Amino acid sequence: MQNESGGRVVVILGTGGTIAGTQGAGGATYRAAQLGIDALVRAIPELAGAALQSEQVAQVDSKDMSHLIWQTLVQRVHHHLVRDEVVGIVVAHGTDTMEETAYLLHRVLAPGKPVVLTGAMRPASSRQADGPANLVHAVALAREPGAHGVLVTMAGTVHGAADVRKVHPHRLDAFGSGDVGPLARFEADGHLRRLRAWPTGEALGIALLDAEPAAWPVVEIVTSHAGASAALIDALVRNGVKGIVIAATGNGTMHEAIEQALRDAAWSGLRVLRATRCGDGAIVEPDHPPPEWPSAGALTPAKARVELMLRLMAAPAV
Ligand code: SIN
Repeated sequence: MQNESGGRVVVILGTGGTIAGTQGAGGATYRAAQLGIDALVRAIPELAGAALQSEQVAQVDSKDMSHLIWQTLVQRVHHHLVRDEVVGIVVAHGTDTMEETAYLLHRVLAPGKPVVLTGAMRPASSRQADGPANLVHAVALAREPGAHGVLVTMAGTVHGAADVRKVHPHRLDAFGSGDVGPLARFEADGHLRRLRAWPTGEALGIALLDAEPAAWPVVEIVTSHAGASAALIDALVRNGVKGIVIAATGNGTMHEAIEQALRDAAWSGLRVLRATRCGDGAIVEPDHPPPEWPSAGALTPAKARVELMLRLMAAPAV
């Protein structure tokens, strides 16, 4: 869809998700990623006449998000960000892995314009669909003077990519920002109330991502839990894994069997990052003595996986 009315263009990229999903009567046959982004945008009266361009980058249930789609999405977001007439970008995305995609875009692009991810908890075919209101908020954010960085908006709340996580499988307000809280909220009258500064960061740059995603370093997540053993770590190392994120207990601790397996794997150059498996809060520990394996602070294990992959791209294991 092209709408060139004026110089302040917002580009809306579609990737699928429940926001583009449909469901038959009585809750049957729910399917994510059925409707194109053009059709979704055209159906929202509040967006009629706005300077919008839409583009379908993918059409996927985000549980199946792939490195190939990520590679394409990063390229398309970057392509539009450097256009002078574009003031901001909206990415319509499934909610299940939205925090991972948001974090990837944040670390690679750290954009000086707003890149706003949004989605929906109810399919587009629902009479109470939440996607349209979320898209209206996302477009408003993409146009917000002074806004920048990768943002997520759902149910009137705005989060930064570094802090956001999905915290509920059903609620419309399914995202949180942990201890630091959201960045902003849309009031009932549509006014945006900012609570914290827009996110900043240093862009790693798109050149870091190999054009061939099969060449991206393999990083897996292993959860520490009661009764854990060395089996998963040993198998992953035998298969040539480059990095492992430990979804660690509490303040970044792990089962002694996992610790021993990681020590035994040191010969392989394996890189390790610890993220807490708690639903909220950050790993906090003294600088001295330095921990045996670094922590991912407040990142969820899934986001820590993205972080470790990027670190390995920047400084490959030897
Ligand atoms: C998805 O993540 O693609 C499906 C679920 C959702 O969007 O809420």
